[in-house]
Amino acid sequence: MLAFEVLVRYFSRFWPQVERQSLSSQQMRKAIPTIPCGQLQMPMIGLGTWQATDPAEFEAALNLAFDIGYRHIDTAAFYENEHIIGKIINQWICSEKLKRDDLFIVTKLPIQGIHRDRVEKYLCQSLQKLGLQCLDLYLIHFPYGKTESTKELVYEKEDHKGIWQAMERQVEAGRTKTIGLSNFSISQIDNILKFCKIKPANHQIEVHVFLQQPDLVQFCQKNGIGVTAYSPLGSPHFNKFLKHIGMKERNLVNVLTNPVVGEIAKKHCKSNAQVALRFLIQRNLAVIPKSTTPARLKSNFDLFDFCLTDQEMKKIETLDIGEEARICDWMFFPKIDEHPAYPFRKKC
Ligand SMILES: NC(=O)c1ccc[n+]([C@@H]2O[C@H](COP(=O)([O-])OP(=O)(O)OC[C@H]3O[C@@H](n4cnc5c(N)ncnc54)[C@H](OP(=O)(O)O)[C@@H]3O)[C@@H](O)[C@H]2O)c1
Repeated sequence: MLAFEVLVRYFSRFWPQVERQSLSSQQMRKAIPTIPCGQLQMPMIGLGTWQATDPAEFEAALNLAFDIGYRHIDTAAFYENEHIIGKIINQWICSEKLKRDDLFIVTKLPIQGIHRDRVEKYLCQSLQKLGLQCLDLYLIHFPYGKTESTKELVYEKEDHKGIWQAMERQVEAGRTKTIGLSNFSISQIDNILKFCKIKPANHQIEVHVFLQQPDLVQFCQKNGIGVTAYSPLGSPHFNKFLKHIGMKERNLVNVLTNPVVGEIAKKHCKSNAQVALRFLIQRNLAVIPKSTTPARLKSNFDLFDFCLTDQEMKKIETLDIGEEARICDWMFFPKIDEHPAYPFRKKC
């Protein structure tokens, strides 16, 4: 499948421009490689949207993204931008430039909704903001929630059975086609697999060249759960976010200036970002780089006309330093790591 898509993309540059422009939306979606997501196919490249909240900038980015060919959009109630995405989707569908079925829309249950009695309420809110009847994929954003009250922060007990059953009811009610997880550990997923009626279709986790998570990825893939890599470029805006919320900046890994990635990129006449994304795609992961910068939106999508050799893949594999490289540890929620179900290994 992937090799075929590489060939199609490669030869498509020689097709007359007019022919490329006349590709219908459906054909465009078909041309993007996919991974299975339950009964659906998820485009391997999606648009990340965390911190894309400036309406004018984000609307322009979404319009350009749809023009370029992005069809998979990743958002979350937590990102507070579902209404902007809904507005642009609606414009594209009303003007008949896109059909609903051309799109793959993912959003997530916010931390205050991670409770068996609140799943439906938060999913309905997301649908309303997105202006959709049904999602393609709904994810539980984190393994446990917090109480709804914003006055004091109290984390809920882990209740995966009750919450997953509430998620399954959303599929049965037609509010989402598939359901999945984000930031769960192997043992937490294993437990869900024991009682679920509907298997998680996708697991969204932090994966980039410095945090490759081979065991978790392999566990998911072996069990037929597709994996989406978040922060695939190492989230270079993360410190800006920490500063914005008054937290101390951290010493973070830098994917975009790494010389090993840079050397491989030079050989292929590609950027570090493209090689970092291509590495993940060749591991059969979907990637959701966030950008609102036109040139980067374009280049991040341009991943299917080159292939990393086995030797190059192995070279990048050596960059994995594991947990130490984790960026999104969710510590922006105070004392979240004191919960017994905290899914990441604590730093000493
Ligand atoms: N499930 C979860 O818990 C979770 C957690 C984190 C993220 N996510 C999802 O994953 C998405 C991606 O992760 P992320 O936003 O943390 O980080 P990322 O995609 O690794 O990096 C995004 C940052 O890199 C910049 N950038 C994008 N393309 C670039 C390029 N080609 N060259 C140089 N810089 C580039 C962007 O800036 P510009 O926008 O200025 O171009 C932005 O600052 C999120 O947006 C969100 O949808 C999910």
